Amino acid sequence: MNKLFDTIKAEIEDVQLESESAVEEFRIKYLSKKQGRITELMKAIPTIAPEDRKSYGQGVNALKQLIELRLQSAKSAQTNGSQSASKLDVSLPGRSTPFGSQHPITQTRNEIVGIFQRVGFSVEEGPEIEDEWHNFTSLNFPPDHPARDMQDTLFVQPSDDGNSGVLLRTHTSPVQIRTLVNGQPPVRIVVPGRVYRNESISYKSYCLFHQVEGLYVDKGVTFGDLKYVLHMFAQAIFGADVRMRFRPSFFPFTEPSAELDIWWVDENLPGGGRWMEILGCGMVDPNVLTAVDVDPEEYTGYAFGMGIERIAMLRYGIDDIRLLYENDIRFLNQF
Ligand code: DAH
Repeated sequence: MNKLFDTIKAEIEDVQLESESAVEEFRIKYLSKKQGRITELMKAIPTIAPEDRKSYGQGVNALKQLIELRLQSAKSAQTNGSQSASKLDVSLPGRSTPFGSQHPITQTRNEIVGIFQRVGFSVEEGPEIEDEWHNFTSLNFPPDHPARDMQDTLFVQPSDDGNSGVLLRTHTSPVQIRTLVNGQPPVRIVVPGRVYRNESISYKSYCLFHQVEGLYVDKGVTFGDLKYVLHMFAQAIFGADVRMRFRPSFFPFTEPSAELDIWWVDENLPGGGRWMEILGCGMVDPNVLTAVDVDPEEYTGYAFGMGIERIAMLRYGIDDIRLLYENDIRFLNQF
C-alpha cells in the first residue's frame, strides 16, 4: 500500500505544470469527482482491511493536499508570469550587452573638427536660436536678400526692422560674428553646429542639417593661406591623391568667394567620376570686419563653411539624407 502511495506521490511531484492546459489536465486527472485518482482511491476503502483503513485514509489525504499545493503554486507562478525553476536552462550562454556606436554625423563632425584642431584651430559654438543681426545683417546680407524671406528661413519672431527678429540660424556663420565681437584678432576657429532651413524635404535636403564653419583673421592672411589649409583638409578627409578645384562663387560675407569641388571617382559614370561641391569659402568681406569693429586696413581673414551631411554621405555612400535622422538601428549599426 505504501508503495502505491509513494509511486503516486512521485508522479504528482514530477509532473510539469507550465501551461494552463497542463494544470487543468492535472487537476482533472487527480481531483475529478467522477474518475480522478483520489476518487478511485476513496472508492477502494471498503476493500481495505479494517485495521489498515485509518492509515490508508491518511495516505489519501496527504496525496490530496500535495495535489492542491502543486495546483496552487502552479497558478500563482502563472499569474506572476515567473517561470518555474525547471524551465531555467543554466547551460545557455549569457546575454551580451550590445555596444553603441557614434552616429555617422557625429563621427564625421569629430573627424573634420579634429583635422583643423591639429593645425591650430580652436572650437567655438553658438546658439541655434539667433537674431537677424547676427545671422544676416552683420554678415553683409542686404535688406532684401531672399534668404531673409520666411520662405527660406524659419522665424521664431519676425521683425520689421530686419535686425531684431528671432530665427533658427540658417548657417553657422553668425558664430564668426559672436567670436569677433567678443575678442580682437588673431582668431582661428572652427564652429560645428546644427542649422535650420525652410526646405521641402527630399532625398537631398532636410529642414535641419549640420555645418562646420571656419574663420581665420589676423594680419596678412591671404587667399593662398586659405587654399593651403583647404587642400590639407581635402587630403586628410578624402586621401592624399584627392583632386580638387576652386570655382568662383558669391557669398555676401566673403569677397572674393569660391566653392571647393573634389573629383569623386566613380567608374560607372562617363568620364570615370564627377566634380562634387564640398564647401564654400572666401576672404572675409571688409564690411563684415567693420560690423564687428575690426579694422579691415589692419586685418584680413578667410572663412569657409561646409555641410557635414554632404561629406558623410559621400564618404559612406549614403544616397538619402533622411536616413541620417530616422534613427533606424539597422542603418546605424553599419557605422
Ligand atoms: N554660410 C554658408 C552657407 O550656409 C557657407 C559658407 C560659405 C560659409 C562661404 C563661409 C563661407 O564661411 O566663407 O551656405
